[in-house]
Amino acid sequence: MPNTPKLQQQDFPILFELGSPGLCAVSLPKSDVPQTNLSDSVPGDLIAAEPPSLPEIGELDVVRHYKKLSRRCFSVDGNFYPLGSCTMKYNPRINERVAAMPALANLHPYQDERDVQGLLEMMHRLKQYLAQIAGLADVSLQPAAGAHGEMTGLMMINAYHRSNGEERKIVLTPDSAHGTNPASCTICGREAASVRSKADGRVDLDDLRSKVDDNTAALMITNPNTVGVFDEQIAEIADILHARGAQLYLDGANMNAILGKTRPGDFGVDVMHYNTHKTFSTPHGGGGPGAGPVAVAKHLTPFLPIPRVILKDDGTFGWESNEPQSIGKIRSFFGQTGVLVRAYAYIRALGHDGLRDVAECAVLSANYLAARLKELYDLPFPSPYAHEFILVPRAANHGATELDIAKRLIDHEIHPPTMSWPVAHCLMIEPTETESLDTLDHFVAAMTEIADELENDPDVVRSAPHTMPVRRLDEVEASRKPIVRWPAD
Ligand SMILES: Cc1ncc(COP(=O)(O)O)c(C=O)c1O
Repeated sequence: MPNTPKLQQQDFPILFELGSPGLCAVSLPKSDVPQTNLSDSVPGDLIAAEPPSLPEIGELDVVRHYKKLSRRCFSVDGNFYPLGSCTMKYNPRINERVAAMPALANLHPYQDERDVQGLLEMMHRLKQYLAQIAGLADVSLQPAAGAHGEMTGLMMINAYHRSNGEERKIVLTPDSAHGTNPASCTICGREAASVRSKADGRVDLDDLRSKVDDNTAALMITNPNTVGVFDEQIAEIADILHARGAQLYLDGANMNAILGKTRPGDFGVDVMHYNTHKTFSTPHGGGGPGAGPVAVAKHLTPFLPIPRVILKDDGTFGWESNEPQSIGKIRSFFGQTGVLVRAYAYIRALGHDGLRDVAECAVLSANYLAARLKELYDLPFPSPYAHEFILVPRAANHGATELDIAKRLIDHEIHPPTMSWPVAHCLMIEPTETESLDTLDHFVAAMTEIADELENDPDVVRSAPHTMPVRRLDEVEASRKPIVRWPAD
């Protein structure tokens, strides 16, 4: 096919090109059961004429191959990740130790509740901690991600309005909202409508007032928001919504900035989700695993998902499903248990004061970086910032874009920050609380050097990265025509 893109040549062979016939990474014992005839149990059209052509290679060569590849990967354990809105902080090893304890890791979701009392107690306590941190009445641990938490929260809001005989159709989101917010509205059969933000990043209250009416189900707001600004008008925003019977939903992706400092329930939030894989350090994977527990105010508790973990009158823990107004089950088994264990370990290790320190250090780190970089780059929103801030390359920078700067940072062994969102041409920088002053200063030095290159040698920025095994890729081509199989043709 003339337009088929070519697979980029690696500088070392892939597994399929290594090895030789007869080599094997494992030695299995001879089978002691009779061979079955495949065609007796599998429909003929599903049986390939030839067995698949798999690599034949020894174990040591497989190990070396993957080790070599792994050394090329960026990771939080190896590199600074100033990834705005995503809170990529270090995962303390104690969380991993606890989650790997055989007494937890080897449990099976079908085990009788009498056999898993320890886990149930942990989940019950975690619910209480999360409710306390939120200043809200109760929590569901079921949602498997932030976006899943959004959907769960909106389902509860819909159920609440229905219980009042209302079918409210509109969910408002500020124009700086994360894309998952309007997507969750649509998935819940609601229509998303945008509310304007002012130049300082805060919600335009006049625009909000003009849009809230008896058809408004909720406003979904992120606070601090995605431009790194804490909107102090939040209690007033809650009043505007509540006056018309609408609910205030908090996207808790940025809880890292306010842990132990303020509680969403105290500023009028009715329902919120956490992203445990951001706020409580549990690892981000490629789209998972995560957990998005949802906390709700008292009037929404009847709608929480089932089954719910409860402390029974006899002092044991168990599951309760007899909740007639519940929205039902939204996740198989009990949620992402291993991730919840890590979040629990993190909260227990830090305690109340430690969690408050997290927020203070995260905010201090972001404001430190902003103060050190403000002479070299444009900062479109006024300080002070919360835990992240937006930075824009100066217009006079010889055509170099935010992408070029992000790529040049790779040469300094720094992971690119979030780019081009939520405002055009920006980099969104979130250093988190876990980075040392030395690392923050290394970032400042890199950004200073790049600012100098932009003035004196912009081509070196435009053609970065220069030090990586893979140079500048055609990202549009790569995402439109990904080659995900071998051989490519
Ligand atoms: C502000 C905000 N809301 C929601 C989400 C969605 O969270 P998750 O990726 O856990 O589904 C994100 C994720 O980056 C986010 O930054």
